[in-house]
Amino acid sequence: MNLEELNQIKETALAEANAAADAAALEEVRIKYLSRKGLLQDVMAQLKDVPNEEKPLFGKGANQLKQELTALIKEKQAVLSTGSRGNSCFDPTLPGQWPALGSEHPISKVTARIVEIFQTLGFTVADGPDVETVWNNFDALNTPADHPSRDEQDTFYLNSGDLLRCHTSPVQVRYMESHTPPIRIIAPGRCYRRDTPDATHSANFHQVEGLFVAEDVSMADLKGTLAYFAKQFLGEDVKIRFRPHFFPFTEPSFEVDFFFEVGGKARWIEILGAGMVDPEVFKKVGYDPDKVTGFAFGMGIERLAMIMYGIKDIRNLYENDVRFLSQF
Ligand code: PHE
Repeated sequence: MNLEELNQIKETALAEANAAADAAALEEVRIKYLSRKGLLQDVMAQLKDVPNEEKPLFGKGANQLKQELTALIKEKQAVLSTGSRGNSCFDPTLPGQWPALGSEHPISKVTARIVEIFQTLGFTVADGPDVETVWNNFDALNTPADHPSRDEQDTFYLNSGDLLRCHTSPVQVRYMESHTPPIRIIAPGRCYRRDTPDATHSANFHQVEGLFVAEDVSMADLKGTLAYFAKQFLGEDVKIRFRPHFFPFTEPSFEVDFFFEVGGKARWIEILGAGMVDPEVFKKVGYDPDKVTGFAFGMGIERLAMIMYGIKDIRNLYENDVRFLSQF
């Protein structure tokens, strides 16, 4: 016998042990190689016939074979025995294990409902990035250079000179610059403001933006659209009112309140900002303000979710505590 033959035996032995599919087959392999009359004993007995210069390596190899094979068989025995014990203990009458089911986040729920209502009016969903240019977020929206919302105390600026959008209105700009009227879009998304978090403020939050541009769009269309939305969202009894306000990108501008019941008591609650698109905005995006008119509106989703579900602290919406989230 020589080294090459020894290696051959080792290869076969390990392969056979690996291939053993159950405990009995494994035991056969063990007996074949490792028992007192096994192949390994034979090998050892032949050590004396091995050429002298190969003897040390041959002895070492034979020992290694024994150790490796013993270890492999032990390991496989453990695996095969737990496997069979596991199977024999399987009790089909025990209740199954259910993975905990998640639920839709209240912000996603409210967003989906708002979008669904506007889709029935022919609005389609538009999208824009969270990182915006100053042009899209402020300039094209007719925001004067000294408007306080441009301050670094209010808006997050990036080193690149871009910013984290402070409202969803830049989606209007993007959409108008790449489409010709008539257009009717609804744009939900995340916004950022430099607010210190407290019960009603969060540095990031969500808005839904709406924009309708065509020939002869009037204030009556805006009122009708928002009244329809209010009724769909909160029920037939809801009333709406427009309060004069100012936004740089709409003229005239309004804050819109809904009158409805929360916590057992009906009251006026401010829900949206809205207005007729300022002709200056149309000029900036290359539309002819003599040909088209339009309205726009925006609302905060967290605010709506908090009102609807009676959530007292906006931070609950971001803590991802399943005890809170599973209630919705
Ligand atoms: N972008 C305004 C805000 O964040 C809301 C708004 C949108 C007002 C569209 C009018 C028209 O407060």
